[in-house]
Formats: sequence, C-alpha cells, structure tokens
Amino acid sequence: MPSPNSFDAIVLGAGGAGLMCALIAGQRGRRVLVIDHAEAPGKKILISGGGRCNFTNLGAGPANYLSANPHFIKSALGRYTPADFIAMVDTHGIAWHEKTLGQLFCDGSAKQIVAMLLDECARGGVTIHCGDAIRAVDHADGRFTVAWGGGQASAPKLVIATGGPSIPKIGATGFAYELAKRFGLALVEPRPALVPLTLGPDEALFRGLSGVAAKVLARAGKTAFREAALFTHRGLSGPAILQISSYWRHGESIGIDFLPDQPTGWLRDAKRARPTAGARSVLGALLPDRLAEVLAERLALAGELANLPDKVLEAAERRLADWRFFPSGTEGFAKAEVTVGGIATDGLSSQTMEARALPGLYAIGEAIDVTGWLGGYNFQWAWASGWACGQAL
Ligand code: FDA
Repeated sequence: MPSPNSFDAIVLGAGGAGLMCALIAGQRGRRVLVIDHAEAPGKKILISGGGRCNFTNLGAGPANYLSANPHFIKSALGRYTPADFIAMVDTHGIAWHEKTLGQLFCDGSAKQIVAMLLDECARGGVTIHCGDAIRAVDHADGRFTVAWGGGQASAPKLVIATGGPSIPKIGATGFAYELAKRFGLALVEPRPALVPLTLGPDEALFRGLSGVAAKVLARAGKTAFREAALFTHRGLSGPAILQISSYWRHGESIGIDFLPDQPTGWLRDAKRARPTAGARSVLGALLPDRLAEVLAERLALAGELANLPDKVLEAAERRLADWRFFPSGTEGFAKAEVTVGGIATDGLSSQTMEARALPGLYAIGEAIDVTGWLGGYNFQWAWASGWACGQAL
C-alpha cells in the first residue's frame, strides 16, 4: 500500500500544459499530484483570448513556432493535433467559433476550458493542490520530493510545468529556470515576446498617434506579418507588432510597410492621374488621417503632387513600404503574453519531454524553449507537450 504522500508523478504547475499532462497520465492509471502556488488552477487560461481563450489554431504546425531547435516541436505537435483538442472540447459540449486566421475561441468563456481540464483530471483521479508556495524540491535515491506549506510528497517522476515569467501579477515566475539550472539543464536566454514595443523620444511624433491603428506588414529580418499595428503612448502594439516582437532583438530595427496593397509606382501614377491633388490627402485616402499627417510631415510631402518631383515621390514610396523603427525596448514581462527562450530543448527528448541529464525529470509547455505565434499556437503547444509527457509517465 503506497503512502498517501507517494505518487507516480508530481506535476509542478496547474496551467494548460500541467493539467493536460496530469489528466493523460491519470487516465492511464498513474497516481498524479499537481501542485501550484496560485490559489486556483488555470489562471492564464482564464485571462486568455480576452476571456474566451483562443484554445488552438487550425493551421498549427512547426513553422508557427520559434525555438533554437525547430525540429524539436514536430513530434509532439504531430501526435497531438488541433483536431484532438477540438474533439475533447466537443465532448464537453463547449461551443466554439473560428474568429480569423484559423483561431478558435470559446463562444462562452475560458472558464469552460478550465472546467473541462479539471473534469478530465478528476476522471483520472488526479490530486490538485493549490495555494501554497513550494518550499523545496529535492532529488535523492531515484525519487523527487516536493515540500510546500505544511505538506510534502514524493514520486519517481517530476514534471516542470510552471510556465514562463510573463505576467507576474497573476503568479508567473521564473521558477522553471531555477529548477532546470539546479538539475543541470541548460537555458536559452528568456526574453519577453508577443509584447508591445517602445519608441524613444526621437519618435515623439509617432507616440503622439496613440490609439491610431492601420493594417500594415511588419518585418524583422526575414519574418513578416500582415496584420493591424496600433500606436500607443509608449510606442507600437497590435497583432502585427506583437508577432514581430518575438523575432526582434535589442538594437535591431523593424520595418513597417504602411501600404502593403499599393503597387510599385503608385504615388507617381497618382501624380499623373490627379496632379492637383494634395500629397497629404492622397495619403489620407489610404491611411487614418492622423497617421497620414505624421508620415507626410516626416517625408516633407506638402502641396500638390504636380509640384513634387518624381524622385521625391519614389523615395517617399520606398520609405512608406519599409519605414524603419528602432524600438528602444519592449514593455517587458509585465505585458508580454509569452516568453521566448527557456529550458533548452537539446537536453530533452522530443518524444517524451524527459531530461537526458536526469531521467525521471520532465519539462513541458512555455517553460521550455518553444514559443508560438499569436493566435492559439501557444496553447496548442501546451496541450501537445503535456499530452506527449503524460503518455510517457
Ligand atoms: P502557465 O503559465 O499557463 O502555467 C504555469 C502554472 O505554474 C501557473 O498556474 C502558475 O501559477 C504556476 N507557477 C508558476 N510559478 C510557480 C511556482 N514558483 N510555484 C508553483 N507554481 C508556480 N495563448 C494562446 O494560445 N491563446 C490565447 O488566447 C492566449 N492568450 C493569452 C493572453 C494573455 C494575457 C497571456 C499572458 C497569455 C496568453 N496566451 C495565449 C499564452 C498562454 O497563456 C501560455 O502560452 C500558456 O498558458 C502556457 O501554458 P503553461 O501551462 O506552460 O504555463
């Protein structure tokens, strides 16, 4: 008879990845304990997708993720697909819809996703303990011992599922990295991702556009996203910017094409067609007024098109198609939806998420160096990595 504090596996973190891992292992007959310091499980799920949880993306594939080793993702993503998660959602009678670009949201509330995961955990006999700080995690004689508040438990298997440090005010920490380092796992430098970018004082003109949005094409290196960008009082945000922020590094520029639908030579052609039109009003017909005004000012586009030489118009067109911003930074982990980097995947099995350096130790979800685009990809990784690990416990 095992002691009540003895489990087959202990999962640290009751987020998407930890709960999925626990429910799979529990339903496979394993005795599983999940421990979380937050007072309730699934807090990030509850605030996700504006409270409706963008729980997966129909098109989720390896190309939608950043990782130092892009091949690592393939096995888990291939074995647990968006269709598998949708099947679970459907079994629980949760209504959902596709919002845009393959992004699936609950019709009702993210609470339904948490309730579903907890229900599946209950079916697997999983024990969940929330609300106490973890005091110690030790490994000796082939067993991991975890102590919290006034309690303690041990198991031969330990899963790190405590996520990344984004949004500390709801309990996110870098605990996964501390544990990883202690147990000999390497880290890829963590940095905030899917995060607004800040602009310095030299861009005061643009910061004055707070609240203005435009559909743009945002580029960083070879990566580009065509979605909305939003000017904020601190800099740039909106889906296009959040996406590109994951690829941006300090000191680099990002390029914005403000008019991705305009063909080459469009400004010169406009001059031929409407020579008496004002340059500002031509821009204003294609972009929000305040933005057109600032861009025209920066480009010194004033007066009628007929009075502007073709060379000036061509140069303006080139800049509008690749406007360079040098962000001064990001809004940091306080505002980042996710973390790029984390526990290095080289030290983990892509099949089971088990650490090569220490058999019995596993890491899943956002804690490891796998980061998805905006649009349901991060939860799909949480489910897929949790599932792969749960199958192996
Ligand atoms: P997650 O962070 O969810 O869970 C980790 C758990 O560990 C937490 O419960 C935490 O309390 C616990 N923990 C942390 N430190 C601990 C410690 N020291 N001791 C004990 N427990 C500890 N993704 C997506 O695909 N679609 C979406 O709609 C959104 N929307 C979204 C909105 C916002 C505002 C944010 C911040 C993020 C998103 N995301 C998202 C990203 C998504 O939420 C994220 O990638 C997953 O929740 C990661 O799941 P994990 O289980 O790995 O970590």
